[in-house]
Amino acid sequence: MFIEIEDLCFRYPNAPKAVIQDFSVTIEHGEVICILGESGGGKSTVLRLVAGLEIPSKGRIKINEITMVDQSVFVPPEKRGVGMVFQDYALFPHMTVSENIRFGLKKMNNKEKDFRINQMLDLVNLGDYGKRYPYELSGGQQQRVAIARTLAPKPSLLLLDEPFSNLDTELRSKIREEINIILKQTSITVIFVTHDKEDAKAMADRIVILKEGKIVEIVDSILF
Ligand SMILES: Nc1ncnc2c1ncn2[C@@H]1O[C@H](COP(=O)(O)OP(=O)(O)O)[C@@H](O)[C@H]1O
Ligand SMILES: [Mg+2]
Repeated sequence: MFIEIEDLCFRYPNAPKAVIQDFSVTIEHGEVICILGESGGGKSTVLRLVAGLEIPSKGRIKINEITMVDQSVFVPPEKRGVGMVFQDYALFPHMTVSENIRFGLKKMNNKEKDFRINQMLDLVNLGDYGKRYPYELSGGQQQRVAIARTLAPKPSLLLLDEPFSNLDTELRSKIREEINIILKQTSITVIFVTHDKEDAKAMADRIVILKEGKIVEIVDSILF
């Protein structure tokens, strides 16, 4: 199994009770998994734990046979090979599209960076938009920049937090389709979270139904 999450538990320091309880799931390489649940159910927290932005009180996360976190190990976020796209995209407003993508590229010379930036712009169909600033783009285009920036350093796992929540309803299915194509082209393993059943069904191979921090059921998307 590519991703193994075992008995994950987590409580925010000032919170009265655990927000994640005994969360376990295994994920195959190239699989697209959706965590579906109501607001406040702990979806973003699961992604933060996988990314290494929070430390679980119990449990283990393994990626590609390597333990990222357990009672004695903690691999920091930048060493996990995990890319996360935040719900609000978190683009740098004072940087162009190309500069935003460049930001994630560390261990490359300038020529390699330019090459990778162009590759990513093509992947997300923004070939002519490299010199634009985020405010000059639509919501859907900003989202694709965020995905391009996250995929540029070649993470082995992509986390998407509510990828469609900031988009107009009419555009939603079109953009979902575009993102699906981008993800299939990269054949990357994905965990995305949403409160929307249609998003889950349209994008995921399997759906993890989360309620108040606990897994209720894991179902194949075609059976959902
Ligand atoms: N930094 C924090 N400190 C304390 N409680 C938090 C913090 N972030 C989230 N929570 C609480 O944890 C629960 C789960 O939140 P979250 O993972 O953001 O849910 P979701 O993404 O499913 O809406 C909620 O009750 C929320 O209020
Ligand atoms: Mg959330």
